[in-house]
Amino acid sequence: MSINNTLLVGRPNLGDRGVLLNRINDMLDRRWFSNNGPLVQEFEKSIADFLGVKHVMAMCNATVALEIASRALNLQGEVIVPSYTFIATAHALQWQEITPVFCDMDPATHNIDPAKIERLITPKTTGILGVHVWGRGCDTEAIEKIAVRRHLKVMYDASHGFACSKGGRMLGTFGECEVFSFHATKFLNCFEGGAVVTNNDDLAEKMRLMRNFGFQGFDNVIYLGVNGKMSEVHAAMGLTNLEAVKEIIAVNRRNYEAYRAGLAEVPGISLIYYDPAEKNNYQYVVVEVDHKVCPRNRDEIVEELHKQNIIARKYFWPGCHRMEPYRSLQPNAGLLLKETENISARVIVLPTGQTVEVETVNFICDLIRGFLKI
Ligand SMILES: Cc1ncc(COP(=O)(O)O)c(C=O)c1O
Repeated sequence: MSINNTLLVGRPNLGDRGVLLNRINDMLDRRWFSNNGPLVQEFEKSIADFLGVKHVMAMCNATVALEIASRALNLQGEVIVPSYTFIATAHALQWQEITPVFCDMDPATHNIDPAKIERLITPKTTGILGVHVWGRGCDTEAIEKIAVRRHLKVMYDASHGFACSKGGRMLGTFGECEVFSFHATKFLNCFEGGAVVTNNDDLAEKMRLMRNFGFQGFDNVIYLGVNGKMSEVHAAMGLTNLEAVKEIIAVNRRNYEAYRAGLAEVPGISLIYYDPAEKNNYQYVVVEVDHKVCPRNRDEIVEELHKQNIIARKYFWPGCHRMEPYRSLQPNAGLLLKETENISARVIVLPTGQTVEVETVNFICDLIRGFLKI
């Protein structure tokens, strides 16, 4: 088979188009497009029911949601985050003049390594911001033990983790609060969007006000706030895609298994593992290339795939600490980030989702094997 169209990591998933268009039509008739409209309220309630959490604050994207959540938690000074994450996790802190202190990852999980957190705590540390990378839950138990012992607040960036669990508990129910991304490339997408979820009533109330300029009622502003609201059309998309969650997981899982079979015998290439005892959305097909065993290195494989219009990605290379402004502000951070530097030089994320058929997965696997002459 030949591939005529470019294959992208993160090409959006889409639920029932007719249902979406009906929702948008109704919205147009109502002429209520933003400011906590009925679709946003329905979306928040549906997400709360799905996750089993008390409060969901839908927002315009996860980056602003992270900023609002960390501000509502009163994080200041220094906050410990993994370097192996999308740059928005670090930027959301730095944007508020909070220093992200980069912690190394556990190479077995790609998540922040709790054993390396404690040595980074200083008198200025106020919190830990864990990231559930690829929807595989952080070691929440170990993180929260440290936080209790050292009087730190914990929140999570669950941008990858919608419909995923840790120890049988849905991601979204850990820490003081968690943040999801509903960006077009994410498992559940609203075109653009995000949410903070929490079981804490006071925190929820504070964040609801902060996302709406700090307004309480029509004329009274009681906090410094921002415009973090989700609009109705975004909620229409989110509700429609939420109805398709099961089908999208089934497609992602089918593709994941096809990649697993197709790459099984390739020396030096291993697909990351999802614990079948947990829920996962299988949104990320992630391989590690061991250049000591594999005939070609990661960059050569990615370059070859790009030549064939398969836009595989090197997430999250080279790590936040090697991007600006952190590279200049913290030039020696890499000394404590050996696993991050090692793994981020090995990872390739491959295309999946509704637009990728099993034949396409087989084609990509054949192409990789052919390139490596296996
Ligand atoms: C881990 C992580 N955090 C934060 C974000 C930012 O999300 P958004 O694009 O919704 O602002 C993303 C992805 O875009 C992400 O992957």
